[in-house]
Amino acid sequence: MIISVIGAGYVGLVTAAGLARNGHSVICIDVDDLKVNAINQGVSPICEAGLDDLLSSLTSRSGRLRASTAYREILDTDLSLICVGTPSNSDGSINLRHIRDAAKRIGQVLGSKKSYHVVATRSTIIPGTTKDVIIPLLAKYSGRKPGKDIGIVYNPEFLQEGKAVQAFFSPDRIIIGELDKRAGNLLAKVYGDIEAPVFRTDITTAEMIKYASNAFLATKISFINEVANICQKLGVDVYDVAKGLSFDYRIGDKFLSAGIGFGGSCLPKDLRALVYASANRFGYPPPLLKAVLDVNKAQALKIIDIAERKLGDLDGKRIAVLGLAFKPNTDDVRDAPAIRIIRVLLEKGALVKAYDPEAMQNARNVLPGGVEYCTSAADAIASSDCILIVTEWAEFRDENLYQSKIVIDGRRALDPRKAKAVCDYQGVCW
Ligand code: UGA
Repeated sequence: MIISVIGAGYVGLVTAAGLARNGHSVICIDVDDLKVNAINQGVSPICEAGLDDLLSSLTSRSGRLRASTAYREILDTDLSLICVGTPSNSDGSINLRHIRDAAKRIGQVLGSKKSYHVVATRSTIIPGTTKDVIIPLLAKYSGRKPGKDIGIVYNPEFLQEGKAVQAFFSPDRIIIGELDKRAGNLLAKVYGDIEAPVFRTDITTAEMIKYASNAFLATKISFINEVANICQKLGVDVYDVAKGLSFDYRIGDKFLSAGIGFGGSCLPKDLRALVYASANRFGYPPPLLKAVLDVNKAQALKIIDIAERKLGDLDGKRIAVLGLAFKPNTDDVRDAPAIRIIRVLLEKGALVKAYDPEAMQNARNVLPGGVEYCTSAADAIASSDCILIVTEWAEFRDENLYQSKIVIDGRRALDPRKAKAVCDYQGVCW
């Protein structure tokens, strides 16, 4: 099949590369010249395990994947996958400007296509968006009939950054929300080589499945963090409690790592958007999901409270922050706890010495001036009054790095018993 993928971010690029690897011819359409050039040279514009190798084999050698800034290239494809970003507005609501733009521009191109074409959205969009926004724009700008001339699908992605390539080829499930059966059949065929349960449903249900998935994952994290805060009062180790819980197959052992809470480009943004839409549009202000956000917000700042308890006033204190990315193995700092923590430290007059193996440049782009960027963890640790471990990169997991230092661990990066033998160690909620 010939497929166009609109938007070459994490989701679009991994999807494009995965589909090309499975034998389809794929063209990525993106407005960013730099990204397009990088992809055409077989270089990934983002840091994602396995993506560089995949791109270099698919662009230069097989030629099955290329990129362009020209929307008209959609004309020669059978299927367009919308993978553009859906960021937050300042009130937490979803910002659909890229979705609107993509739907309009796809519609304009499809106006001159005579044969059937499927438009499937992979971006995370509030339930109702395909029906209320995408379908009307496609109809208006193409002059063709959605559900008949243009097939419509919502096909959410469940890719975890850092494991996205692997998750593309071995997903837990494939969700196909379809307006017309013909479009659903085409999507099922596109993913035919991938072994996974396929669940076909209507579009709004599929849109809600995506939000419910991320809301549930976020709820698990805030749940274990709340349990951790109680455990800490009792002198009980939450990691032992989580282990005890995990033997119950209904609970499992995933997403029960307590610490400074969830960040990233998806869980916080999606939860805020769902809470906003539910309260302001659907008529149900969801108390549980609001609490999940509140617990998460407070959790990151606990690391600063502990630093103040240990050091007193932070004004003039040298604080090493290890880890800037929202989790290890990515350079992504969107909604990263480290960014919030550093802002507060700077407000309190602390001298911040930051280090991350991959995310330094992205952090520099969003943080105010005044942060000292170090060349290694050892460099940040030396001459610091206190060390905050904010992201559990493998290279921070060596207790010997922290001899005689004050260490506050936000991610259970260290073994508390071993760490206590070499330094003044405190876990954020254990
Ligand atoms: C998340 C979901 O896990 C994916 O299934 C989903 O497809 C994706 O969002 C998306 O909507 O595109 P991702 O943003 O890559 O994926 O990040 P996660 O691996 O879920 O981690 C999110 C945050 O939770 C990180 O800051 C991580 O450190 C934190 N976390 C995770 C915990 O604090 N405790 C845990 O037990 C697990």
